[in-house]
Amino acid sequence: MTTSTLPDYREQSPEVAARFERLQQRPVTLEVRDLTKRFATPKGSVTALENVSFRVHQREFTCVIGPSGCGKSTLVRILAGLETASSGEVLVGGEPVSGPGPDRGMVFQGYTLFPWLTVKENVMFGPKMAGTPDFAAEREARQWIEMVGLSKFENAYPHQLSGGMKQRVAIARALANQPRVLFMDEPFGALDAQTRCQMQEYLLEIWKNVDITVVFITHDLDEAVFLADRILVLDPNPGRVREFVEVPVPRPRAPSQLFEPPFMAIRKHVDGLIHPPGSEKKEAPVVRLAAPDPDVV
Ligand SMILES: Nc1ncnc2c1ncn2[C@@H]1O[C@H](COP(=O)(O)OP(=O)(O)OP(=O)(O)O)[C@@H](O)[C@H]1O
Ligand SMILES: [Mg+2]
Repeated sequence: MTTSTLPDYREQSPEVAARFERLQQRPVTLEVRDLTKRFATPKGSVTALENVSFRVHQREFTCVIGPSGCGKSTLVRILAGLETASSGEVLVGGEPVSGPGPDRGMVFQGYTLFPWLTVKENVMFGPKMAGTPDFAAEREARQWIEMVGLSKFENAYPHQLSGGMKQRVAIARALANQPRVLFMDEPFGALDAQTRCQMQEYLLEIWKNVDITVVFITHDLDEAVFLADRILVLDPNPGRVREFVEVPVPRPRAPSQLFEPPFMAIRKHVDGLIHPPGSEKKEAPVVRLAAPDPDVV
């Protein structure tokens, strides 16, 4: 694995380069050492991840990207302690991970709120389970609900909310346990494009206001570049680290940057890693139900 730099971006943007230098000086919050995961299947062993190693620093925003089946969800499930590794080690704050813990929060793509609880009760759930008295859990829940901009909906039930609102509650619920690291597995994957963009901006705003290290899985290259400090690019079969790329797009990020040279350059670079020359789309089998038409190609 290498930590790549884009061609001479450090000279072009000394401020961005200085920020990366400072990030590198921060304590390591998450360390993954030589992680390998094999699944036993009826057809034999499948190696989902092989010798994956990387480090994430405190309050860094990392995106993980790679083709479908390259092991992104497996990786994040192991990091969250929901799955065990075949070999290797995961450390959070220097402590080995051996199962789920309150130091790690998780937000999935599917809506995972308890449908029979209100927004406030959903957010209070974790702290109450951890033994926080009701009045304190309620006070804390209100603070997190305010942070995700849903104070007016604290007594609503999940079915009364839009998809984007549900995911904001899911974020508030994860943050209410005060984790050090927030793992997000394609959390905005089911949202329409416009809501997705709004959610990305919300998430950056929340990240700005909370001491949290984020590991965010996505299929979407634009989303990764918009959100991340660094992008961990995984290769498939078996899942291996291709590169851990710095995103030299200045912060604060804004959608208008999507068409600016630094954004385009890093996007092109990561796209080249995911789709290396020679990996062009394979011909899909064709079932022809209409006669060939030279104007419909
Ligand atoms: N419980 C399981 N048993 C057997 N194989 C599994 C299991 N979970 C995952 N795999 C295999 O491990 C590999 C990685 O799967 P994973 O779900 O982590 O990929 P992914 O990168 O998250 O894919 P996607 O982008 O489609 O969500 C795949 O080959 C998958 O079939
Ligand atoms: Mg997945």
